[in-house]
Amino acid sequence: MVGASDGKRVAVYPGSFDPLTNGHVDIILRGARLFDRIIVALLENADKSPMFTVGERLEIAKKVFAPHQNVDVDTFDGLLVDYVRLQGANVIVRGLRAISDFEFELQMALMNRRLNPDVETVFMMPAEQYTYVSSRLVKEVFGLGGSITGLVPETVETQLRRKQKSG
Ligand code: PNS
Repeated sequence: MVGASDGKRVAVYPGSFDPLTNGHVDIILRGARLFDRIIVALLENADKSPMFTVGERLEIAKKVFAPHQNVDVDTFDGLLVDYVRLQGANVIVRGLRAISDFEFELQMALMNRRLNPDVETVFMMPAEQYTYVSSRLVKEVFGLGGSITGLVPETVETQLRRKQKSG
């Protein structure tokens, strides 16, 4: 494991990723340029009835980031700051799309700082074309028959279609 103690900058990008969107991908690739290593950390047990199981989300993210050597994909449960420390990281990356994201993100960042003052939260803005994209809207639009092409990685769209067909 490459940790902060090796002098490497390791960041964790946590989330539910149900499903992974191109907005997430955009932030992760920006993070991969800033840090030596970025760990995409999927929260287990977040939503009682997710669209994709944790296993499916893990598989999707691993496929999408396979070409990117400094992007790792993992799952976590419990406190995020504990997971960050366990990974030898000291940075949490979060995306900020609009002012509406700010209040919740500020609460989380300050709570995480209180829990572990050594862990810093870094906010990054996605490319403009993804500022309105969210997992929730993607699921809603897809469920109602609208196009989500360009909003999610191809593999996500394929998996959604497969799920739709199977039931
Ligand atoms: O993609 P999401 O759902 O906005 O991600 C939220 C996430 C996973 C970052 C957040 O729920 C989280 O960190 N959960 C872990 C539990 C925890 O540490 N809670 C206290 C931090 S405020």
